[in-house]
Amino acid sequence: MDPFQYQNSELFCEDVSVSALAEEFGTPLWVYSKAKLVHEYQQIQNAFAAVDPVICYSVKANSNLSLLKVLSEQGCSFDVVSGGELYRVREAGADTTKVAFAGVGKTDDEIRFALESDILMFNVESEPELDAISRIAGEMGKVAPVALRLNPDVDGKTHEKTTTGRKGNKFGMDIERHNELADKVLADPNLELRGIHLHIGSPINTTDPYRQAAEKALSVVRELRSKGHQTNWINLGGGFGLNYKNDEAPPASVYAEVIVPIIQEAECRLALEPGRSIAGNSGILVSEVIFVKYEGGKRFVIQDAAMTDLIRPAMYDSFHKLWPVNPSVPAPEDFEVEIENCSLADIVGPVCESSDYFAKGRSFPNVNRGDLLATFSAGAYGTVMSSNYNSRPRGTEVLVDGNEYKIIRRRESYEDLVAHERV
Ligand code: LLP
Repeated sequence: MDPFQYQNSELFCEDVSVSALAEEFGTPLWVYSKAKLVHEYQQIQNAFAAVDPVICYSVKANSNLSLLKVLSEQGCSFDVVSGGELYRVREAGADTTKVAFAGVGKTDDEIRFALESDILMFNVESEPELDAISRIAGEMGKVAPVALRLNPDVDGKTHEKTTTGRKGNKFGMDIERHNELADKVLADPNLELRGIHLHIGSPINTTDPYRQAAEKALSVVRELRSKGHQTNWINLGGGFGLNYKNDEAPPASVYAEVIVPIIQEAECRLALEPGRSIAGNSGILVSEVIFVKYEGGKRFVIQDAAMTDLIRPAMYDSFHKLWPVNPSVPAPEDFEVEIENCSLADIVGPVCESSDYFAKGRSFPNVNRGDLLATFSAGAYGTVMSSNYNSRPRGTEVLVDGNEYKIIRRRESYEDLVAHERV
């Protein structure tokens, strides 16, 4: 299901023309499809229905309140990594009792806030964190629900900067320590052991790393239970793939085929923390061509969106499909090859960094100043990683629902840029 379709050389989001939105709201502009967001959530929920999962959408992927509200209305829960994200979940009116709280550096204030919010569990990433949670829970007269985040030492074969489940990463605790850590929780009246948490990295486009992680989880749960520990939850984290190019990511049902039987064998509740796979293809970034220039034997298309809006190409060499909103050449199936009636171009932003590009050496149609461009798969890790570097205000975000749409974040102004400063 792709809500972004060309009809007569015009890009639509559901039933709304993208160029009409750009005319009304200006660029850079983020356009999200409500139907796609809901569809992707439901795909995961249905795929894992046999084990009645708790799907904790990973707020870090896109934390806009309206998107959180849409998901919450579907029964989705949330994975947060900071007090700020938990605040957003509360502001969106969501139920906090199914929230998982991860992160290697939770502060006392954040722990307190999470305990006040009666979250489902802390994904605990170190022994000092266990001590801190215990102390604060004791002060508050509460028993804190914890899951041990264990590092499974599984290679997710993903980008160096987004792999998390190999020994030596900063996340979690060595899996060999599970007995010792569980004993520590059991001996502490301020803590309750809910289960274990493992996250391998992201995006993981194959199922084998999940099989390995789930099997390790199963053997840990068995061992802990044989020692009398109540371990009822396995949280396998996030990381499901996204089709940035074509069909490189398996659908949720394929991950489920591997994971569900192991969870059934473990007789555990399953939590998952997908972010990218829900939000990623629900959003695009629309920009306008400012100039086209030919220098050094190359064509540069300079647009008004930049690494300050979408940092993924600069940070991870990520590939994003990019095509004009009103193209003179139909969008190809494959964006990585030479395309007829196109020539090579670097598509870059205005920021003063050589790494400010969206595409390099890309076969691209002729475009002119004022033309609109769409960067696809921008719904996850786009706005959330954006910045005001070069004092660039962030653009408007719009949510489309059928033939209706609404602003879900207004464009920042120059006044917004200095609003928190004092002279
Ligand atoms: N759970 C944990 C513990 C995580 O660390 C992450 C992502 C997720 C869930 C969600 O993963 P997802 O389903 O979205 O793949 N900025 C990078 C991605 C960083 C991911 C960090 N952790 C990017 O743009 O590719």
